[in-house]
Amino acid sequence: MKIAIDGPAGAGKSTVAKMVADKLGYLYVDTGAMYRALTWKALHDNVDISSGEALVRLLNQCRLELQSDSASQRVVLNGRDITEAIRTREVSNHVSEVASHPQVREAMVELQREMATKGNVVMDGRDIGTYVIPDADVKIYLTASLEERARRRYEELRVKGHEVSFEEIKQEILERDDKDRKRDTAPLQKAADALTVDTTGLSITEVVNCILNIVHQKT
Ligand code: CDP
Ligand code: CDP
Repeated sequence: MKIAIDGPAGAGKSTVAKMVADKLGYLYVDTGAMYRALTWKALHDNVDISSGEALVRLLNQCRLELQSDSASQRVVLNGRDITEAIRTREVSNHVSEVASHPQVREAMVELQREMATKGNVVMDGRDIGTYVIPDADVKIYLTASLEERARRRYEELRVKGHEVSFEEIKQEILERDDKDRKRDTAPLQKAADALTVDTTGLSITEVVNCILNIVHQKT
């Protein structure tokens, strides 16, 4: 069983996908975390993120692991836990450029497809249902209004103690979604056979149950 969850920033993909995977006992793969990890490493090592070639060279030198347990998913690069480091605004504001390079996507998709062969999987991202696993058994396009998605991200940052305005966050999300939708290679779009789940006004539990219902209907 393969479950693909795509959608714009802040729709709730990672939170919900991880919970659905835990409930079903499936492997969870957060593909956004992979692009974020490469972005973090490139910024950290001063690698030119306008060069797809340089980024792929960097990726090939890295050992990237997604370690999942019931409590959390950790992102480990060359043995260093960078789970928190990849969620900064700096990484968020550069990741779409990194992910726009066809060579980078090709290398990432190869890794992702390999993970998808390991058994039952829930994978979330932007191009999972359209490109990475087009034969997925269940495809969900998770979305919510821009206001709600920005509010969620704003709350997350405030809880972590960041001083940032709601309008700034909203603008950053808008720009990232725009870049992800307009890139030439595997842009963010709803797969023709995906079901749209609008999470505006829904709690996390409601969304998880909705997806579990869809999966149970399929099985
Ligand atoms: O969690 P959030 O929605 O903020 O983003 P993410 O899922 O961590 O993904 C970060 C970025 O990686 C996206 O804005 C895309 O630029 C890129 N990405 C992608 O291009 N393709 C994917 N399958 C997943 C993420
Ligand atoms: O991965 P994506 O960017 O799509 O979203 P996320 O990082 O899973 O969720 C963004 C934030 O929204 C998290 O803090 C979630 O706890 C929250 N959330 C929510 O408040 N209500 C939902 N129905 C889903 C997520």
